[in-house]
This record gives sequence, structure tokens and C-alpha cells, in this order.
Amino acid sequence: MFEQVKLTYGADALEPYIDTLTVETHYGKHHATYTKNFNDAVAKAGLEGKSAEEILASLDSVADESLRKALRNNGGGYYNHNLYFESFSPSPAKAPTGALLDKINEKFGSVDALKEELTKLATGQFGSGWAWLSANKAGDLMTSASPNQDNTISEGKGYIPIIALDVWEHAYYLKYKNLRPDYIKNFFEILDWSKVEENYKRIIG
Ligand SMILES: [Fe+2]
Repeated sequence: MFEQVKLTYGADALEPYIDTLTVETHYGKHHATYTKNFNDAVAKAGLEGKSAEEILASLDSVADESLRKALRNNGGGYYNHNLYFESFSPSPAKAPTGALLDKINEKFGSVDALKEELTKLATGQFGSGWAWLSANKAGDLMTSASPNQDNTISEGKGYIPIIALDVWEHAYYLKYKNLRPDYIKNFFEILDWSKVEENYKRIIG
């Protein structure tokens, strides 16, 4: 049985960057629904006991098309939002350190340049989707964007997300309306880089 991550902060703790009603709706309704529907689809497909990453990485093995679609969309919705909600803090570490910082500097030139790259991808994602910073087991980094609830795992890219930037309208519309770039700018104000580092370390082992 998959469960939503527990929030380590109150629904109002990310103000003014992400407003209370958006956290309540996004986590309490959207993420909750993805989680319920993912569990239903997992049971229907007989995939209990597998991790969400395993399921998303082997969607091709599910023969039934509508079930495969349900696993892709709701499994992605479950997994992506766990990563998203886990990565915020009202008192975030403002920059990465150690091996992750070295890798970012090597690949992108600086943390600010990486943020610019992610901002460009997130702003340019047409319609609903996500922008990612992902890592592979060798520690290499990659930025990308995906439509819907796809991610670098379900896309078979061999990379696992470590920053999840949700640009579905449900992530920002109540507060920011059409101003997606303002939401993206403020996303980085509450992104806790110590969580991103934890994600990176887990992948490289
Ligand atoms: Fe979302």
C-alpha cells in the first residue's frame, strides 16, 4: 500500500511563496487522489510488493493499455508529488554542498546557472508537466521536462529525479494565476537543498 509522504511543515508554513489553500488542495486532494488511484491500479495489475520506481520503470510489461496508462499517470502523480512535497522547508538549506555542488558546478557552471536552466524548462513546458534535475547511479546530472505525470523513470531515461518542479496549474493558479514564472522563482525560495542532496546520495549509493 503506497502512502503519501507526511508533510514535515504546516500547510501555512510555505507562505508567502506557496499559499495555504494551494498546499491544502494540492496535497490533500490532488496528491491524495493520485495515491488512491495508484493503489487501485497496482492491485488490479497484481503488482503489490514492487516499489513505485520499479513499476514506473517497467510499464512496458503491463499488457492492458488502460491499466498501463493508469499506472503511468497515477504512479507518476504519486511518486512525483512525494518528491515535490518532501523537498520544501520553511527554513531551507539555500545551496547544495559536497559532491552535489561539485557536480553542479562541473556540469552547469554554477547553482544559479542550473536554476536558470530549470526555470527555462519549467516555463517552456507547454501545458501540464514537470521540470527535473535527475541523477544516474554514476552521479551524472541531467535536466529535462516532461508532460503530464511522466518523469525520467517512466520515460526510461536511466535517470532518477532529485528536484521535482511541478508546473501543473493546480500547483500555482490559486495564487499566481497566469504568472507561472513568478511561482517558479519562488519555488527556489523554499527548496531545501539538503533534501536534494539526500536524494542524490541515495541514488549514487
Ligand atoms: Fe501537482
